[in-house]
Amino acid sequence: MMLKIKVNSLQPGVELAKNLFSDDAQLLLPAGTVINQEHLDSFAKRGIIEVFVAEEKKVKRSTKSFDDVYDDSLLAVKSFLMETKLGQPLDSQEVNSTVDSLLNQVLDELNVFKGISVMKGKDEYLFTHAINVSILAMLVGRWMKLKEQQIRDLGISGLLHDLGKVFISDEILNKPERLTDEEYEEIKKHSTLGHDVLMKQGWVSPEVAQAVLYHHERTDGSGYPTGATNYGNNPYAAIIAVCDAFDAITADRVYSKKRSPFTAADIIWEESFGKLNPAICKFFYSKMTPFLIGSQVTLSNQLQGTVVFVDTIQPTRPIVKVGEEFFNLALDRSIHVLEVIDG
Ligand SMILES: [Fe+2]
Ligand SMILES: [Fe+2]
Repeated sequence: MMLKIKVNSLQPGVELAKNLFSDDAQLLLPAGTVINQEHLDSFAKRGIIEVFVAEEKKVKRSTKSFDDVYDDSLLAVKSFLMETKLGQPLDSQEVNSTVDSLLNQVLDELNVFKGISVMKGKDEYLFTHAINVSILAMLVGRWMKLKEQQIRDLGISGLLHDLGKVFISDEILNKPERLTDEEYEEIKKHSTLGHDVLMKQGWVSPEVAQAVLYHHERTDGSGYPTGATNYGNNPYAAIIAVCDAFDAITADRVYSKKRSPFTAADIIWEESFGKLNPAICKFFYSKMTPFLIGSQVTLSNQLQGTVVFVDTIQPTRPIVKVGEEFFNLALDRSIHVLEVIDG
């Protein structure tokens, strides 16, 4: 059931039942978006008077801010990764409650995209990456309308997917130069190491442990450790792989500077042919790109401007307003988005 409701009587936490378009037929928000305060403010600015909302899906919002939940999760992840390194058991309650509190934040999509880009820090990559992949994976799970338990499993898989890296030496993990073949082989062991340690816990579902094992497999069988095609048909590994790619590309690493979500979208597009699961990439594309509207960006011609339109078919080719001028990157292929300016 859906209701047409006046924007001025809307409360944050209500779910959009239909895609919301602007007067010039631009997709503003996809159906399923949970309305937050920023959306409400933008409705007022754009002169949107009524929207369709899902009737009974009033969502209980957490009272904690995104930043607080993220900081708490960071502490939790640090402690359980370090405990694993020391050979101690993984505390199921701690893992589950971390996933629960992150899942609560996933209800606010705009917050997720803004939040994780602000929270990325170079030296804590292993920890922030675990949280980001967990959040993104649960977001994709929601978009795909998976069951609550599957979404939680995705959250756990994301949080623990690189757990095995605690057994790899910091020297290799943080090496700024190109890895030697031997070092790369060493890093590749993290999928199996993570899987094995999870199987020993007794409470981790085999599907989650298997998702960890298969998160570097590829659709065409070119991945590792087993070379299985289609991610060994694990229901979560293909989702983790897309979120893993997105977060890795957009994060600062010791050996590479972070790249913009536009570049990430480009790479994910290319990888969707044979490497990443195309259906999941498509979800990622169509749902993520509207959030890029309003981003401040630097273009390859060094001009700075605001993204005013993102086409979900060609998300890396937005229309950017610089002063009074518009640059349509779909038409002018000589320019691309160099970076998104944070803040
Ligand atoms: Fe990994
Ligand atoms: Fe990863």
